[in-house]
Amino acid sequence: MFERLTEQPVDKIMLTAQAFRADPRPGKVDLGVGVYKDATGLTPVMRAVKLAEQQLWQAETTKVYTALAGEPAFADAMIALVLGDAVPRAAVAAVGTPGGTGAVRGALELIKMANPDARIFVSDPSWPNHAAMIAYMGLTRVDYRYFDATTRGVDMGGLLTDLAQAGPGDVVLLHGCCHNPTGANPTLAEWGAIIDAVLATGALPLVDLAYQGFGDGLEADAAATRMIAARAPECLIAASCSKNFGIYRERTGILMGVSHQGGTALAQGVMTALNRMNFSFPPDHGARLVTMILTTPDLRAMWETELEEVRQSMLGLRVQLAEELRQRTNSDRFDFLAHHRGMFSRLGTTPEVVQRLRDEHAIYMISDSRMNIAGLNTATVPVLAQAILSVGV
Ligand code: LMR
Repeated sequence: MFERLTEQPVDKIMLTAQAFRADPRPGKVDLGVGVYKDATGLTPVMRAVKLAEQQLWQAETTKVYTALAGEPAFADAMIALVLGDAVPRAAVAAVGTPGGTGAVRGALELIKMANPDARIFVSDPSWPNHAAMIAYMGLTRVDYRYFDATTRGVDMGGLLTDLAQAGPGDVVLLHGCCHNPTGANPTLAEWGAIIDAVLATGALPLVDLAYQGFGDGLEADAAATRMIAARAPECLIAASCSKNFGIYRERTGILMGVSHQGGTALAQGVMTALNRMNFSFPPDHGARLVTMILTTPDLRAMWETELEEVRQSMLGLRVQLAEELRQRTNSDRFDFLAHHRGMFSRLGTTPEVVQRLRDEHAIYMISDSRMNIAGLNTATVPVLAQAILSVGV
């Protein structure tokens, strides 16, 4: 049997991580995979998570199965975090999933069940696993323009033109905030125009929200998702707790299905059945920590404070890098780095130049020139600035 298999491509994010690990050079700089790192290069366990784990260890009396949809308290807490009061709770179906990836996968499976011919409109570029999962599921992907290579901002004209090609039964995948890989995001007014365009086509919005709290703050980062949930007759939302709670390996995420036309109960049943067929019960440890943090005032305050520190540190690095480049070039052509939000910025250069940064400067970014800003610290920012200019970006 195994000889019939064909090798699967490794995506460029995982390839970069492998190459970085294998590089023996001591001063190497990792701007690859999207994990937050503090100034010492550590991805810390957040203070509130550590405390919640301690409390959980003392209070937990059983590891018996949770519910197929995960703990209801987790769903309630996450729905409140993501959607605020944008929609009535009764309009939201939700299941816990293994991370945000599990939620995207669950969404695609639900879509395939409802309409195997659905075309999934995906931003060009997008997180590479989106395209991989869509292809694996046998669904059709249609790319829509997103990034303006000149301004390094959002190509609103191209995006709106391309989204107009969608129709009823199709799906438009949108990054709720902190676009991965570009770091370029629509303003709230532009979001309004995007939602108008999607709703005019009759397509279903699918929001991937993996970085709430990493861009402009917990509330601001949820604003577009809330607008979509309030205005679309139906939508799907895949939210991740990996980054904003720093619990990457605990695999904690949630899939929500919002319906204003009475489809919630059916969606809840189908999403729960999909969990059962895929993995039975979603991972519980991370979900329980998140629930404790979101519903215990002192833990929540501690978490929000640290999340804000994380966000501010990334913003500070963005500003420092843009400033370094401004001084060195005597121009504003790298100011986009300070305007981007989230962990990532697309530098906007070729794979060959990215390779030179790797070979000549031991600086690792993804081949499409996506940089993880959190991989920098105040000492490596000037090193990167100098390297960027020395390879002729
Ligand atoms: C990334 O984009 O680097 C992260 O979302 C990690 C991953 O799984 O790719």
